[in-house]
Parts: sequence; C-alpha cells; structure tokens
Amino acid sequence: MLSTVALGLLALAASSEVTAAPSDAPVAKPQKITLQSRVTPKGHVTAVRAKAAQAIGVPLDDFFLGTDLQWFGNISVGTPPQTVSVVFDTGSQTLEFASTECTTCNQTNKFDGSKSSTYVRGNRITTLDFATGVGVDPVVNNDYVLTVRSGTDTVTVGGVAAKDISLFTIIKQTPKFNIDPFLGIQGMGSQAEGFFAALTRAGLPSLFSYFLTPHTVGNAELLIGGIDDTKFKGDLIYANQQGDGDWEVESSQISVNGKTTSVLKQSRSVIFDSGTSNILFDTQTTEAMYALISPNIKPFAAEPGAYGLPCSEIDGLPATIDITFTSQSGTPFNLTIPSSELNVGPFASDPSTCQTLINAFDGLELVGGSLLKHYYSVWDVGNQRMGFAPNGESLLSYPRGRG
Ligand SMILES: *[C@@H]1O[C@H](CO)[C@@H](O)[C@H](O)[C@H]1NC(C)=O
Ligand SMILES: *[C@@H]1O[C@H](CO)[C@@H](O)[C@H](O)[C@H]1NC(C)=O
Ligand SMILES: *[C@@H]1O[C@H](CO)[C@@H](O)[C@H](O)[C@H]1NC(C)=O
Repeated sequence: MLSTVALGLLALAASSEVTAAPSDAPVAKPQKITLQSRVTPKGHVTAVRAKAAQAIGVPLDDFFLGTDLQWFGNISVGTPPQTVSVVFDTGSQTLEFASTECTTCNQTNKFDGSKSSTYVRGNRITTLDFATGVGVDPVVNNDYVLTVRSGTDTVTVGGVAAKDISLFTIIKQTPKFNIDPFLGIQGMGSQAEGFFAALTRAGLPSLFSYFLTPHTVGNAELLIGGIDDTKFKGDLIYANQQGDGDWEVESSQISVNGKTTSVLKQSRSVIFDSGTSNILFDTQTTEAMYALISPNIKPFAAEPGAYGLPCSEIDGLPATIDITFTSQSGTPFNLTIPSSELNVGPFASDPSTCQTLINAFDGLELVGGSLLKHYYSVWDVGNQRMGFAPNGESLLSYPRGRG
C-alpha cells in the first residue's frame, strides 16, 4: 500500500523530471514500425468495434495486499525480447524499468542490455528524488529515489514491435521500491509518446481502454487501439480531457453520501491516474469529505497526508463518493466510489488504525484505482477525451445515453 500510494506520485514527479532533465536523451525521430506479428486475443475479434480489429490486448495482474492497488502487465524489450513487467501509468509519460546494472533493485528478471542486439545505452544519468509526504508506512523525505540511465531499444507489446523507443533503465533505487512485484513504469500520458506513438503512426487508432477489475473479478486488461464493448454496460459517456501530459477532466461537484458543501461544490480539475491506488485532494477538500463520513476520521500523525480511524469502526461506515463531471453533450454524470473503498487497510506502525482512502495533498486533485476499477475507461488520445461506462461488477446507478 505504501509504495502504491506513493507510486502514482512518483510517476507524476518522474515524468516531469525525466522529460525535462536529460539533455542528451535520445531525440525522438520518425520511426518505421515493424509489424512482426499481430496477436488478437480470443474473444476480441467479434467483440471489438470494427475499427479496433487490430487492437492489442495486454492482460493485467492486480498487485493485491488486502485491497486492490495497481495493475501491471508485460511488455518485451530488446532483441531477442526480454519480458519486462510494468505498471501502465496514465500519470506519467516515459518508460523506465530496472536493469541488471541495478544492484539495489531486488526484483528478479531485470533487463540485461548486454543481451539485446538492438539496445543503445545512453550516457545521461538522472537522479529522481521523490518526497511525496503521503501514504501508509513511513514516507519521509528522500525515501523514494530512482537513478535512471537513458537508452533506446525495440519495445514489443502484444507481439507488435516498435523500434528505437526512448526509455530509461533504473540503475539504482531506494529500498521502498523493493516491495513492487513489477520492474518498472510505462507512462500512458495524454500525449502520444514512446511505443504508443509508434503504434498509432503505424495505423492503430490513437486510444486505449482499461478494464481494471478488483482482484476478485480478475481478467483485467489494457486494450491498446480499441474498445471492448463486452466489458461494460450501456454506452460510454465521454468528457473533454484538459491535461497537458496528464489526463484531467473538470469536475463541478463532489458529494459524499448524497450531501455536498460549499467547499465540495467548487469546480476542480481532477487527474485520472492508473498508477495511484487511492485518491488525493487538497486538505480542505479532504477534510470536508471526511466530515460527511465520520468525525472519528483523523489525520494519522506518523504519515503526513494520511488519515485513519480505529479498524473496529470502519466496516459498514457509509462513504459513497459521487464526483460529478459534464459530458461532451453538456449533461452531468457521476463517477462513484462505493463505501467498500473507504478502508485501505491497517497502518503497519499501528495495526489497530485503518487508513482511509482520501489522502490530503495540497495542489493535487487525483483519482486512481479505487475509482477506475468500477468503470470501463477509454483514454482517447486522438480526440482528447475520456469515456466511462460501468464495469459489469458495478452495482451503482449510472445515467445512460451518449455523451
Ligand atoms: C508476464 O510474464 C511472466 C513471465 O513470462 C508470466 O509469468 C506472467 O504471468 C505474465 N504476466 C501477465 C500479467 O501476463
Ligand atoms: C524484495 O524486498 C521486498 C521488501 O523487503 C520483499 O517484500 C520482496 O519479497 C523482495 N523481492 C525479492 C524478489 O526478493
Ligand atoms: C450525482 O450524485 C449526486 C449526489 O449523490 C446526486 O444528487 C445527483 O443527482 C447525481 N447526478 C447524476 C447525474 O446522477
């Protein structure tokens, strides 16, 4: 949980640092994509809408530690291809993963550049410091530091290979990263970059879709270049995306258990981040939301930004969060986080206190896995919009009709 809460933030921080810092980073150049093979997973052939016949399905695993945390899957890097497991993170834009050069990374199956005939090792080393101040378990300044090296190689996703993709290999990481069951992060930001840009240049529709299910449901999937309408109910509702790199949608109101307040009625730009497990709002917004749930939810002193209450009091506490957005056709719609998401789990340093899902972080308003796992989501890069429809498992009412 702790690395999860922090990770989306890490990814956010990393994206700006990585893209800004390296001066001799490989320069993006027009790439010819090599279509080595095309894998169309069973079931999609007829299920996927006509244009998405070539869509690439990537199965995802759920990092589960008592609650759903993050979804990760495999890409391959190099020639011959080496499997690299990554979080497909809509909160960042670059690709970085641990290499054998990293002696402090305890993950297995690290990428070995010396075994790839197409790997070009860059010389630019960048140190990324992360001081998020939120999370479960100690998150103190400089706990999260990655040192990365620039490079390029062939990246293969779902059997489709794209050459000369800019990437970063992690050559040093602090111990907080060791809990992660994946090797790295694949940025899936709102501007096409990396292998995604290469795939769209090769003719794949410029969008991807997430089916981020709870652990108990399984079969989570990232579908690149398509929409699988067997995985959601009703029609997708689309809203304009306003982020420049991040995915952001304007929200007019937040309600908790059907009630709102003047603070919660303010409009705000909400970031959608598949690399973060929970939700983050300004302190004022966070406390206004908690006030509508229970007066016993208090800041957890050992973890700035985190809140909790005695675990004995948390189950059954109503905490339905409706975040209101406006569709492209001008109608309001809610994305709803059900009460079952309130309990993130016990704090490691105080197991009788359970962390609650909203973390206070001034200057950032962000939703992650606890919302995304209840909806099928379409991240439409080409049209700069996001689409949502309830997953099969969602029990909550949802307006119908096209957005
Ligand atoms: C990723 O690849 C590894 C090794 O081939 C495999 O064990 C694992 O199941 C794959 N993960 C997913 C989510 O497909
Ligand atoms: C790496 O370290 C973490 C934290 O100590 C541990 O949970 C994990 O199992 C270790 N992974 C491996 C592959 O040794
Ligand atoms: C959104 O949720 C609020 C609070 O529960 C409710 O009052 C409102 O009617 C909902 N809006 C829509 C369009 O469903």
